[in-house]
Amino acid sequence: MIHYMKLGSVPPKHHVTHYEDGKLLMEQCMTRIGFDSTYSILYYRTPPTDECAVRSMELPGFCPIAPVKDQPLHRRHIRTQDLKVDGDFLTARRTLLMNDDIRVGIAKVNQPANHWFSNGEGDECWFAYDGGGTLESVYGLLPFKKHDYVIIPKGTPYRLHPEGCKGVFLTFESDSHIDLPKQFRNESGQITMDAPYCHRDFRVPQELVRFDKSRHGSGPYPLIVKLGNELTVHEFQHFPWEVAGWDGTVYPVAFNIHDYQPRTASIHLPPTIHITFAGRGFVICSFVPRKVDYFDRDGVKAIPCPYGHASVDCDEILYYVEGNFTSRKGIESQSISLHPMGVPHGPHPGTYEKSIGKDRTSELAVMCDTFKPLRLTSAACAIEDKDYHYTWVKRENEAMETSK
Ligand SMILES: [Fe+2]
Repeated sequence: MIHYMKLGSVPPKHHVTHYEDGKLLMEQCMTRIGFDSTYSILYYRTPPTDECAVRSMELPGFCPIAPVKDQPLHRRHIRTQDLKVDGDFLTARRTLLMNDDIRVGIAKVNQPANHWFSNGEGDECWFAYDGGGTLESVYGLLPFKKHDYVIIPKGTPYRLHPEGCKGVFLTFESDSHIDLPKQFRNESGQITMDAPYCHRDFRVPQELVRFDKSRHGSGPYPLIVKLGNELTVHEFQHFPWEVAGWDGTVYPVAFNIHDYQPRTASIHLPPTIHITFAGRGFVICSFVPRKVDYFDRDGVKAIPCPYGHASVDCDEILYYVEGNFTSRKGIESQSISLHPMGVPHGPHPGTYEKSIGKDRTSELAVMCDTFKPLRLTSAACAIEDKDYHYTWVKRENEAMETSK
């Protein structure tokens, strides 16, 4: 997804014999958009096709999933800090917001990884809110750290191990691919010099997975596959995720939000200037600590706080991580705000004026803009701050009373 890479042993050409200790390895091509786009080629010790059983399963709150009916249009505040769940990276995952292009959720992991999972619907992006860990996948072991984005390609069998088996994650589950925006690549696919990151910022799998009975068990080996809003369990007789080597451009990567190089101008730039990743029907943006807008001439100054806006074709969500968010009051770390198309939004009263003359912001947040409306699931409704839509009015009245 980022650049060509090779790990382990691969033969000199595609589709030729490749032996290990006298045994012919099984080549698997992982291709995207048919056979026309990016791909990787993996060499398996055991063919990943020897399933001995297939059955259906359900994970309530994750799959199958549907939005709540009858959702009046208004601004939302989902208090994910109030979400109570137990489980591993898969069973402790709850989908909160969804449309046809993307599903946004939270995983609050408090148990060791007990499943292997493969998302056949699209790429996933995990944001590590409070700690690091390791992504174990067919591509190898990828260590990640606090505030990393971890991108996992569609169709990748994986497990996610947070340090100490505990961690909070914001999850994006696409119905397509998640990649760098096209404008940040030159005609050769290299990241351009004026992009907000460079190739060196993206970390890749470090070592291949070796089968270890104490860690992987004695089989059969179940893989939970998600496709078409359904889960299917595929049981393998032999441990199927051990490869001798692979090469290509499809593999998981980790990128730390603090390595994002933010843009500031003399006058406020639109929020999408913070774009980090893009998929079909959505973008993911990073708000990181930075200097703010500095226009100051003849007594006229820039207003660093965002202006009121009606982005009429987008829903916008923000996941607040750290720092004081310039335009919001009553929002805490782990809050998600949803400002939908059809309704304008802007800074809370007082924050607009207060930002004038400010030099820096310490805010750290992840934004996602979608081109189709997002709908809440029942898990989101259960932790929603129902008064959020009216907080502008209330605070205005409060401000008027104070000034009397
Ligand atoms: Fe906005």
